Amino acid sequence: MLKKITTAAVAVMLAALTACGSGGSGDAGSSGAKDDGKITMGFAQVGAESGWRTANTKSIQEEAAAAGIDLKFSDAQQKQENQIKAIRSYIQQKVDIIAFSPVVETGWDTVLLEAKRANIPVILTDRAIDSDDTTLYKTFLGSDFVLEGKKAGEWLKENAGTAKNVVELQGTTGAAPAIDRKKGFEEAIAGTDLKIVATQTGDFTRSGGKQVMEAFLKSVPQIDVVYAHNDDMGLGAIEAIKAAGKVPGKDIKIITVDAVKDGMTALAAGEINYIVECNPLLGKQLMDLSKKVLAGEEVPPRVVTEESAFTSEQAKTELPNRKY
Ligand code: AHR
Repeated sequence: MLKKITTAAVAVMLAALTACGSGGSGDAGSSGAKDDGKITMGFAQVGAESGWRTANTKSIQEEAAAAGIDLKFSDAQQKQENQIKAIRSYIQQKVDIIAFSPVVETGWDTVLLEAKRANIPVILTDRAIDSDDTTLYKTFLGSDFVLEGKKAGEWLKENAGTAKNVVELQGTTGAAPAIDRKKGFEEAIAGTDLKIVATQTGDFTRSGGKQVMEAFLKSVPQIDVVYAHNDDMGLGAIEAIKAAGKVPGKDIKIITVDAVKDGMTALAAGEINYIVECNPLLGKQLMDLSKKVLAGEEVPPRVVTEESAFTSEQAKTELPNRKY
């Protein structure tokens, strides 16, 4: 009798242990997320530094909802360590896919290797990383920032008149758009009389652009042109120029990148002279690429966003249709 009870008890314990094993395993956890048919995406955003970023966030949130993708969203407040923390938390939560727009270009290999080992694909959007290991992400969706800088420089070359001295408001130090927009612009104006006489980061913010421009106006004897890596910094510079008693767009030419509504309004009013477009509406393409990656379909390693550029006259026509 005792032997019978013991055998029965062992059988019950074994059954319980087996059930525990399957219920608590990583397999059961991840198959739960994948088998209900709903994709979960962890998105680590840079921050809310500019009008461009606000439009980008809205596009991602709206298109995730439209695609039936469950979006976990975090705002890193322009700090790399916050983005790394967010990515680690998405790995722990076993999301199906991670997408992010890297604050800066370098320092991602360790955390992306963790995602790779956890079998979670990663998509880069908007900004690239600087890594030799291209297996750390499936694709990179975003603009050609070098080309944007080139377009800005080419326009200036054609429209400089007597202007020579350029001050540059750079984006966040170490960020791909800051590095590339500088490079493209410098390449375009090389061999001309145009010269960058002062350059400093305004961190892609309006207040940063204003502060740096105030300092430039005090320390640089002759400023003919402002080249700002985004509209927000250009708009901040306009405030500083007006406060210094000068006329933006006339006494000092202004070229910016983005073409958000506020920038286009200033361009139409003649306070900015030229804007190179950088399209923030990446949400739809990102959701489509994510679905393909998770279905095991081939995706191109690089998807470049198509963009235009605007003069003041073109901004007047475009403005009523501008969505962001
Ligand atoms: O990475 C894109 C850039 O980031 C945009 O040009 C700028 O406005 C933003 O902050």
